[in-house]
Formats: sequence, C-alpha cells, structure tokens
Amino acid sequence: MSPTPNKRILLNAFSMNCVSHHQHGLWVREDTRQLEYTQIDPWIELAQILEKGCFDALFLADVVGVYDNYKGGPETSIIEGMQVPANDPSMLVSAMAHATENIGFAYTSSVYQAHPFTFARQMSTLDHLTKGRIAWNIVTSYLRNAGFNYGLGGLPEHNKRYDLADEYLEVTYKLWEGSWEDDAVLADRKRGIYADPAKIHKINHVGKHFDVAGPHLSEPSPQRTPLLFQAGSSTRGRSFAAKHAECIFILESKEMLQGPGNVIEDIRNQARLLGRNPDDILFFQGITPVVGSTESEAKAKEAEYIEQFSEEGALAHFSGSMGIDMEAGDLDQPLDSMDPKYMRGFVQSMIKSSSDQKKTFRDLFRTRLAGQFLTGAPEQIADALQKWQQLGVDGFNLVYSVTPGSFSDFIDGVVPILQQKGLVQSEYSPGPLREKIFGTPRLTNRHVASEYRK
Ligand SMILES: Cc1cc2nc3c(=O)[nH]c(=O)nc-3n(C[C@H](O)[C@H](O)[C@H](O)COP(=O)(O)O)c2cc1C
Repeated sequence: MSPTPNKRILLNAFSMNCVSHHQHGLWVREDTRQLEYTQIDPWIELAQILEKGCFDALFLADVVGVYDNYKGGPETSIIEGMQVPANDPSMLVSAMAHATENIGFAYTSSVYQAHPFTFARQMSTLDHLTKGRIAWNIVTSYLRNAGFNYGLGGLPEHNKRYDLADEYLEVTYKLWEGSWEDDAVLADRKRGIYADPAKIHKINHVGKHFDVAGPHLSEPSPQRTPLLFQAGSSTRGRSFAAKHAECIFILESKEMLQGPGNVIEDIRNQARLLGRNPDDILFFQGITPVVGSTESEAKAKEAEYIEQFSEEGALAHFSGSMGIDMEAGDLDQPLDSMDPKYMRGFVQSMIKSSSDQKKTFRDLFRTRLAGQFLTGAPEQIADALQKWQQLGVDGFNLVYSVTPGSFSDFIDGVVPILQQKGLVQSEYSPGPLREKIFGTPRLTNRHVASEYRK
C-alpha cells in the first residue's frame, strides 16, 4: 500500500477513565497520575499537554462490565485496578473542552449501554458544547458481565451484536442527519419564532431492536453525526467498519500489514464497493512509545516497565477479552492451538502476526498487550513511525506506560522532529474535528448516513 506523499500522520492519545488501562501494574509508580483518575484536573492538564503537541484527539476507551473470568471471578481485576473501577469517559469531555480549543475527544460507548435516542442526544449536546470536537468509538462489547448488566443474560452472540449495532447506527443517523433540516432553527426574536415545525421531522423508526418516533431533541450540531471511530477486525467487524467507520483503530504487526488481504486493504476494498473513497477511512495503529534522550536511556526505561508489568493484571485482561479463563488455559501451549472466542479479530491477528507459531502465548502477551513498544531516542521513533506510514497507516493511537509522562516525552522529543519533517501538523486547521481531519465538517454523501438526510 503506497502512502499519499506528504500526507500528515495523525496522532491520538489513548487512555481510559480508570486506574489501570493497558500497561498493568505500572499505576504504583510515583511518576504516573493514574491514581488521580477520579479528579478533573489531571484530565484537563492532559488535554492541554496534548493540544500543545497538536494531537488530533484524546481517545478514551471504556467497558461496561468487569473482567470476571480469570480464575473464575473478578478478584484479580479488582486487586489490580484493571479497568475496574471505571468511570464514565463522557463526563470528562465538557471540562476538557472548556480548557482547550482544538483537540478532539473520542470516547467509547457500547451499543448496549444506552438507548440510541438517549445516546444521540448526549452526543449532539457534546458536539454543541465542544464546537464540533466530539468523536464516538463504536463498540459492541465483549465482556460477559456487560451483557448481564444490561439484562441480556450474558453476551449476545458475536454477529448478533454487530446486527444490533447496524440498527443502532441507523437510528442515530436518522436522528442526527434526518430529523432537523439545516434551516429549521430561525431564532427570530422579532417574530418570536424559535424553529420552524415544518422542517423538523419525526423519524418513525420501527425495527427489530428499537422503535423510535423522534424528532431528535437536539438541534443540528456542528458535525451532526460525530466523527466515527471503530475497532474490531473480525470478518463481520471489517464489513461493519467499511460501512460506518471513518477512523479505525488497529493493533497489527508490520508483517500482517504487508500481507495479502490485510485489514487496511480489505476494509478499503469493501468500502469502495459501498461507494466510499479509500481515503474516507483512516487507520490508527496502536503503539506504546518509550522515548529517552538516548537509545540506551529509553531501553533502560522499557526494561523497568517490563519488570514492573503485572502478568496477573494482563492475564485478567486477556481472559475477559478472549472469553477464556487463562488460568485454566495452558499459557505455555503453542499459539497455533489457541481458540479465541470473543475478541476474535484482535486475538487472531495477534496470534497470526507472530513469526513463530510455536511460541507460547506467555511469550507473546507481555509485549503485545499494549500494542507494541516503540523504544528509542526521538529520531529513532520518528523514523519508525514514518516506516509504519509507508505501510499504509494514517495515524497512531499512543498507549501510555505512565501518564502524562509518556505523552509529554513524545511531545517534547518526537513531535518537533516529525514537525520538521512535515509529517505532523504544527498548528491546527480551523473547524470541527471532522473538518480538521477530512476537510469537511459533515459526513460526505458517500457515507451511508447521508441516505437519511431530508
Ligand atoms: C485496539 C482495540 C481497542 C478496543 N477498545 C475497546 C473499548 O474501549 N471498549 C470495548 O468495549 N471494546 C473495545 N474493543 C473491542 C472491539 O470494539 C470489538 O468489540 C472486539 O474487537 C470484537 O470485535 P471483532 O470480533 O470484530 O474483532 C477494542 C478492540 C481493539 C482491537
């Protein structure tokens, strides 16, 4: 896949409103602010740091259940602070937006956690309050406990979750795109007319999972539909992404990205068949940068992180993600005998990407859980990112080891080099998040949501 010359690399910071997100065990360090996750100040400061580094967005992961199958229960997750407790990411956004002007905020919301009518209204409200800097990471949930939390008697079957998500998206598109016409709001003080009823429409959605009359309760916001993120690379996940996603979060190896039918080529081909342009979709690779002023300083830091990394936390994480109790499973069995049930796309690609299928899962998971360590002096990291770009990656979701330190190190060391090379932006372009990234504030008429416009 050849990159467009001079195309800029996009940068997101990846975090979660919890103690231990990905690099488990490191929250105990003095140089990380993970223990302050319940406070607003560290989040505001993080957003400001990222904006100083001209990052495109802060990307907030989320789950709506506990990882409760490692050793048959949630105890390890609780001890490790491993995504439990987990506070609602959406609540952080207005405060961070108030303290910044340009950075975007992508947060995760499962199609099982909120009725689409409620969710569409929350998103529209945030799109107004942030002046169009909001993005949605669409997820279908993978935790069994999430299913039990929403009265589903456990997690619905994989493809059924995507079927429901398709309908969920249809409802939200109808509300965001089709309910209020652009000129519905008059705000006419002289005549005392706020809005024109003839230009506001019910949606009258009647479907398998949802019946929603409408109209939408929010007037059109800068982006209408928030910028759409998605992760999930199973066959069904890929076709869902080709239809809906604008930005896709991947955790791939370089080998996988060079192979035939790789996730980028595949999704772009599918998107083309649906009438979209290949560059209507951007791919963000997850990486874990460890930046030092010299290579050896960076290597020493990485060694310290790996030493402190909690294998127990990681096993609880993986057990929940895969739907397999890793205690019961033999960690020392070869990769080619694993049977990933739930987070299929990701686990399968992770396993396939290992050059040696006879390696054990234990060998693999220490360094791959958080994406991939990218360790070195700033110049080395900048060169490595450029190589990823040459493989067709459009941007990166940076996973922290310590926060905000991992991001500050990257911004102080690597960003100026990338800026000098013209590979990342040195200032923000105007407008809402979608306009900053794709040049237009609203979804184009190539996107399926446009079918619902009046
Ligand atoms: C890099 C990455 C990040 C993800 N982040 C979240 C998340 O924050 N919350 C969540 O519920 N699911 C998350 N997921 C899970 C996916 O949304 C999806 O449900 C899962 O990968 C199963 O889909 P698949 O079988 O199509 O791969 C993530 C997946 C990947 C690969």
